[in-house]
Amino acid sequence: MALLKILHFPDPRLHLVAKPVAAVDADIRQLAADMAETMYAAPGIGLAATQVDRHVRLIVVDISEEKNRLLTLINPRIVMKEGEAVREEGCLSVPGIYDKVTRAEHIRVDALDLEGKPFQLDAVGLLAVCIQHEIDHLDGKVFVEYLSRLKQARIRHKLEKQAREAM
Ligand code: NI
Repeated sequence: MALLKILHFPDPRLHLVAKPVAAVDADIRQLAADMAETMYAAPGIGLAATQVDRHVRLIVVDISEEKNRLLTLINPRIVMKEGEAVREEGCLSVPGIYDKVTRAEHIRVDALDLEGKPFQLDAVGLLAVCIQHEIDHLDGKVFVEYLSRLKQARIRHKLEKQAREAM
């Protein structure tokens, strides 16, 4: 296993649209394992392949306190959305920034597991928000894009400054 480098906003590669996984093979399982390790090390509760510069539709999520409920979703697709919830979100690609986003409170997702078998998952609350946030990454969307233009400009400025100082 290996820790992967996480892209930081406003890196343009965060806006690429990921392609469906054609075959759940050893490469995909390795990527999923490395992404899980990277997410736990960060630490974070979700990570999309887009964030580690691999543009395939694969996300890992674990919202449990004990970090023992890893969910791997390949080619995830939201088939039902219900209700509305406002939660403060953060993102490993936007370090130090937290803000409120409105999303569906309850979702149903179709996906493939690490064996390539289809499954369906119902998620509510934080898990639902986290999955929606990660699927957005696969579509090239970062959560700050839900915020006002002014806030986005401030965040961009702050992260560009941080990146310059880190060089
Ligand atoms: Ni994120």
